[in-house]
Amino acid sequence: MQAIKQLGGYLGPYKFFTLIAPLLMVLEVTMDLLQPTIMQHMIDTGIANGDNPYVLKMFVWMLMSAVFGLVGGIGCSYYSSKAAIHFASDVRQSLYEKMMTYSAKERDAFTTGKLITILTSDVESVQRAFMMTLRIFVRGPLLFIGAVIIVFVTARELFSILLIIVPLLIIAMYFFTKYSGVLYRRVQEAIDGVNTKLQENLAGIRVVKAFRRETQQIEQFSGLNDTLTKRFITAEQIVGVLVPFTMFVVNLGIIAALWLGAIKVEAGTLKVGVILAFINYLTIILNGLMTSSMVLMQIARAIPSGERIVDVLNKEVAVKEAENALTAPIQGAIDFQNVSYRYYESAEDVLKNITFSVKPGQTVGLIGKTGSGKSTLVKLLPRLFDPTCGEIYMDGKPLKDYALSTLRKHIGYTSQKALLFSGAIDQNIRLGKEDATSVELQQALEAACATEFVGRLDKGLAYELSQGATNLSGGQKQRLALTRALVRQPAILVLDDTTSALDSASEKHVQQAISHQYNDTTTFIVASKIASIQQADLILVLDDGEIVGQGTHQQLLQNNEFYQAIYASQQKAGVHQ
Ligand SMILES: Nc1ncnc2c1ncn2[C@@H]1O[C@H](COP(=O)(O)OP(=O)(O)OP(=O)(O)O)[C@@H](O)[C@H]1O
Ligand SMILES: [Mg+2]
Repeated sequence: MQAIKQLGGYLGPYKFFTLIAPLLMVLEVTMDLLQPTIMQHMIDTGIANGDNPYVLKMFVWMLMSAVFGLVGGIGCSYYSSKAAIHFASDVRQSLYEKMMTYSAKERDAFTTGKLITILTSDVESVQRAFMMTLRIFVRGPLLFIGAVIIVFVTARELFSILLIIVPLLIIAMYFFTKYSGVLYRRVQEAIDGVNTKLQENLAGIRVVKAFRRETQQIEQFSGLNDTLTKRFITAEQIVGVLVPFTMFVVNLGIIAALWLGAIKVEAGTLKVGVILAFINYLTIILNGLMTSSMVLMQIARAIPSGERIVDVLNKEVAVKEAENALTAPIQGAIDFQNVSYRYYESAEDVLKNITFSVKPGQTVGLIGKTGSGKSTLVKLLPRLFDPTCGEIYMDGKPLKDYALSTLRKHIGYTSQKALLFSGAIDQNIRLGKEDATSVELQQALEAACATEFVGRLDKGLAYELSQGATNLSGGQKQRLALTRALVRQPAILVLDDTTSALDSASEKHVQQAISHQYNDTTTFIVASKIASIQQADLILVLDDGEIVGQGTHQQLLQNNEFYQAIYASQQKAGVHQ
């Protein structure tokens, strides 16, 4: 109910369509209801008495009511489509905008597959229910009630048949409608499963192929697909019994009408036209009940979909913006004070009591074993998530007090896995700074050691990247991700293993460019090689989420065992300076 109320809010701009559609439907139904009565008069009064002008008059009436009915029907379809399609489009837009505010926590909680199903098939199911409601929710009950009243008034001799048939039909429809809601909710859940698997496998198709896991993946998919198929078949089969069953009941009614009618016609208490009209009204009653139950079934299917939509819209986002958030420019002084972080479902902190200070323009190097928490630490800076304990200060003020847009505008972040989007290279770089001039683009490309390879591509900056930039090498992707971060001239630059796929000459070039051209920028460099961070003003050595050493290269070499051990192992392995 809550879901219906909330989604009802989206009807605001389409109130007129929502009102006019059912009104036009009332016109169509009224015309439909008049037809059998006009026919009855035509037969019993006109044809039976050989009154040709009367027959002609009734004929004209029938034609006119058919034309009005047509106009009402077409108008109703037109306005209901308009209302429902626009409504769905607005809901999809809101969902997408909300999803864009999600942090990794909310996205993981829903799973990508489910979010896609909600945005597509759930919205469609609500749209269909809404359209049907506008088109036939009025039609069904109105046809039913109208026909029952007309039979009571004009064919009371046969009314007793309705007293048996109608309750039977209503009971059957009640149960089918109720049950179908449960069945289709299960279908929707199975669709989530299929979508999640599909999405995961398409994204990772190269890995699947490289490890020759196609057969195993196909088996897993097949399992999920089977579940979906079974649930769909159960739902459709059970719901499919409804139509033949109701037809059967109505046929019983027709037989009873003919039998009872024949007796009464013979006794001279009933005219033939009344029997024909009654049979017509009986099919109208069936029609009315069927359409009502179809709409109810669709609504029963749409309610779980509506609830899922509302869940996405109402999901509280973990990373929130403070009221009256700061929009002052950022200098880049950073203080971590006793910062700990735990991933939402983990049992253990992955960062423990992290404390350090950096002045604007300084360079911080982070080094430590795999899984020691380096990426997690730098992700706290653009607030991809917030610390579980402790506080981070930016220029002396809590990081949380800054407007997210201000904060992120001043941070150039490159993730460990270079992520680029399909589209031209310059579009990708301009994500860093939309209005970058071509000089700024060239400077950033130069600093990231990307000028040469971009120059060699057939269309240069206009070269189109495929989805996931699969038409570039790993090192080329890293260079472009770095260019994107540099082009915004950020106050804070975060390079999470960004130069790992670069040869040592290029890496040196990048480091020098950053220290010369971006010397006001506070830079965080996550690296696996000491050589990459040797020049840093502050090196943090992480082990199992803790800082086990901090200082310059020289200081750490002298007094830190962890650092000495890493240094020794890299010297031995011949990791180049
Ligand atoms: N989304 C997540 N949910 C739960 N645990 C996570 C998540 N991301 C990372 N972790 C865990 O947090 C710990 C630190 O991960 P992190 O990515 O920060 O390590 P890292 O030092 O960057 O490692 P690497 O050098 O391999 O990049 C790891 O034990 C990892 O398993
Ligand atoms: Mg990492």
